[in-house]
Amino acid sequence: MTAPFDPDAPFDPAWMDQYVVPNYGRYQIWPERGEGPYVWDRDGKKYLDFAGGVAVCPLGHSHPEVADAISRQAHTLMHVSNWYCIRQQAELARLLVERVMQIPGKCFFCNSGAEANEGLIKLARRYGVTRPLPDGSPRYEIITFTGSFHGRTFGAMSATAQAKIHGGFGPIVPGFVYAPFNDIDALKAAITDKTVAILLEPVQGESGVHPVTPEFLRAAADLCKSNDMLLLLDEVQCGLGRTGTLGGWRTIIPGDEIKPDAISWAKSIGSGFPLGSFWIQDRPVGDEGQGQLCDLLGPGSHGTTYGGSPLACTVGLTTLGVILRDDLAAHSAKLGAQIAADVSAWKNPCITSVRAFGMMIGFELNAALFDNHPAVIASGRPASIWLARQLLDIGMMVVPAGTHVVRWLPPMNIQEGHVAEGLQLFRQALDATTAAA
Ligand SMILES: Cc1ncc(COP(=O)(O)O)c(C=O)c1O
Repeated sequence: MTAPFDPDAPFDPAWMDQYVVPNYGRYQIWPERGEGPYVWDRDGKKYLDFAGGVAVCPLGHSHPEVADAISRQAHTLMHVSNWYCIRQQAELARLLVERVMQIPGKCFFCNSGAEANEGLIKLARRYGVTRPLPDGSPRYEIITFTGSFHGRTFGAMSATAQAKIHGGFGPIVPGFVYAPFNDIDALKAAITDKTVAILLEPVQGESGVHPVTPEFLRAAADLCKSNDMLLLLDEVQCGLGRTGTLGGWRTIIPGDEIKPDAISWAKSIGSGFPLGSFWIQDRPVGDEGQGQLCDLLGPGSHGTTYGGSPLACTVGLTTLGVILRDDLAAHSAKLGAQIAADVSAWKNPCITSVRAFGMMIGFELNAALFDNHPAVIASGRPASIWLARQLLDIGMMVVPAGTHVVRWLPPMNIQEGHVAEGLQLFRQALDATTAAA
């Protein structure tokens, strides 16, 4: 009998262009195998992977405890419908509530970051129906911020305050109001009687690792309280320890001063297995007996076929279990600070600033140097994409952000030796760039 899929069967690279929708601008590199922070391509070339699948692999590749857990659970029970009770969902939700949030609440499970944000958007809409305007019409406006990225589904895309993300798909979902990030007066001015929520990333990732300021986060939380609005945090990229604390917003304001109403996660939670989630705080919806916020999405209001399967939640439990057991948030904070200090000390003219939050690090590229660099001009690509390509050539994966930032999003469990290797490769690429400028 022939195997249904033979990974050693003849393969033609042209099939990628012939059969796959061309929506990604891909580097022509074919990763085939990974271990820890390393990836090997089909020609056997080794890369230090400090992209981590865009912040997806907190434990690196092929982590033995994750791989074993997947295999065990796949041999036991991969999927059952949410018509039934799923033990691993309850366990993962408990871990997220008690250890990550440390604020009473409840969780929902889905498959991606965009989908988790769709849940936050639906929660806000439901809140606005439950607590409407005096004439009974729903409040539905959600304020989001310049530089944000919330995903590619229709709601999440419409929430994303970037015209280039909406381009060619209009009309987008109504009800999103975009305000400049970290501008308290502009935020106040954006609030109307229809505003029902504020949605922000504590550390914006796609725009180039830009943190919310403590003053702005505090003001947003206060405005939510005084205007009966929900404070929604998108921690899809910055959550679960990556920035050096288990809650990304606690990297900005430590402790319990800020209590979000709801928060979305994906990426790090699943080690690369499709898993997303959102948490909703357990607090009264209002003082008129409308129940608890975490119960607002009642039976029939929301769902997804695959969300929270025994397999997905086993991966989440194992991944989060390792992050907690090995205190990888604190480890990330320490290494991130060390990387920032080392790179800043080089005083390399290619880099104008380093923004490091644990294992989420943005290097701002010197626009004057890169935009006048003969090789960058000849490539026709933005500086960030050009530099990421140079690094690939010497065996290092990083992620461009916008035109002038490259990000490092390494596994949270890398060791000092990996950091030294990354610094050496990065310095080599920067020195070569400077020499040819
Ligand atoms: C902050 C943030 N939110 C949402 C998303 C969308 O997540 P996904 O691609 O899993 O839908 C991303 C992806 O990069 C993200 O960085």
